[in-house]
Amino acid sequence: MNILWDTDPTALERYRFALGSDTQALPSAALVARALHDNVGIQQVIIGPDVALDEACELAEAARLDRPEMGVILMRRRMDVTALSQALRSGVREVVTSEDHTALVDALRRSRDLTQRLIGHSMGTPAKEGKVVTIFSAKGGVGKTTLATNLATHLAKSGLKTLLIDLDLAFGDVAISLQLVPTQSIFDAVAMSGHLDEAGIAAISTTHEDSGLHVVCAPNDPGDADRIPPGVSVELIKLARQHYDYVVVDTPPSFTEHVLAACDLSDALVLVATLDIPAVKNLRVAIDTLDMLGSPRDARIIVLNRADAKVGLRAEDVESAIKEQISVSIPNSLTVPSSINRGVPIVLDDPRGSVSVAIRQLGDVHIRRRFGEELNGAPQRRGFFRGRS
Ligand SMILES: Nc1ncnc2c1ncn2[C@@H]1O[C@H](COP(=O)(O)OP(=O)(O)OP(=O)(O)O)[C@@H](O)[C@H]1O
Ligand SMILES: [Mg+2]
Repeated sequence: MNILWDTDPTALERYRFALGSDTQALPSAALVARALHDNVGIQQVIIGPDVALDEACELAEAARLDRPEMGVILMRRRMDVTALSQALRSGVREVVTSEDHTALVDALRRSRDLTQRLIGHSMGTPAKEGKVVTIFSAKGGVGKTTLATNLATHLAKSGLKTLLIDLDLAFGDVAISLQLVPTQSIFDAVAMSGHLDEAGIAAISTTHEDSGLHVVCAPNDPGDADRIPPGVSVELIKLARQHYDYVVVDTPPSFTEHVLAACDLSDALVLVATLDIPAVKNLRVAIDTLDMLGSPRDARIIVLNRADAKVGLRAEDVESAIKEQISVSIPNSLTVPSSINRGVPIVLDDPRGSVSVAIRQLGDVHIRRRFGEELNGAPQRRGFFRGRS
């Protein structure tokens, strides 16, 4: 995809022939910065003749470091040597005069070729292996979605590139919990099946603005759930872990084929229980099923949610019933439903509260440290143009 950065609203029509249909026109540096931040599929930025040279060079310089495969092409009304050398020094790939559409077509072709070669080169290097964390419980209503949304928000807020996938395909409520209004969902990945790429993930995900978390929501229409083959979620998770630090997966309360595939691909499996006999029984059954499927025991993290509820069952009773140790206990708190009703994750809404402290403990101690992350001085991703708005 191309971006045409031009202050003239009619520019896209004028250059359409040269730039092709997969081009979005944007009038300001801030909007271009935002588009580049949100859409990793942008491969060429073409800068119109009226954009100030310094602004254009600033973008080229930033792109050279953060997105070296992306091409920046600059149009000027007249060529002058000073502008030309300043532009090329900053990393602009090509400079053309705005009236010469043939030169623009040629420059774009050369730049695209170079982009493809650079992408091909980077594909030869080992892909980044992000970690997949699936939240599961065989019983409904135990707090899976609460945990998945808050854990993912916490990871994203910590500067880690994080994708949350709602695999509760029929009744998923991640979007509503985060107050997102998705235009696309995992259902749209079906059409890209077999050739899903990073740009495809960007297209089907929605950004949670307060944290920078990317979310692939469940379909709006529960009827679409059955039309999503399990291979689609497998392809999505496998690809996502190459492009994200963490992929968090929320699940429905049963071992669907999608869930089994996600568990299989997971580096950590968070199993959630509450202090009631059916939940504990279901957790025991889930653990037995996972054992039978050969799922590694050391990948499991047991979380007891609403752990302080006075219901006659104690955490020790749960541990002895499931024969596993509870890693994290999350207290019962009215702040949870009220944060969900406001659509603000509790880790942002009430960061000092005991529920948030427990969720951060899960994220930092039981997940990030497990994968060898050094937590003093959390890794802050450079974040492409993140500072601008
Ligand atoms: N620690 C907590 N304290 C108080 N209420 C909680 C807590 N955790 C979850 N809840 C409440 O429990 C309800 C169910 O939570 P949630 O939707 O996260 O569960 P779930 O396991 O995803 O359910 P489902 O199986 O239906 O998807 C919500 O109303 C939520 O507000
Ligand atoms: Mg749920």
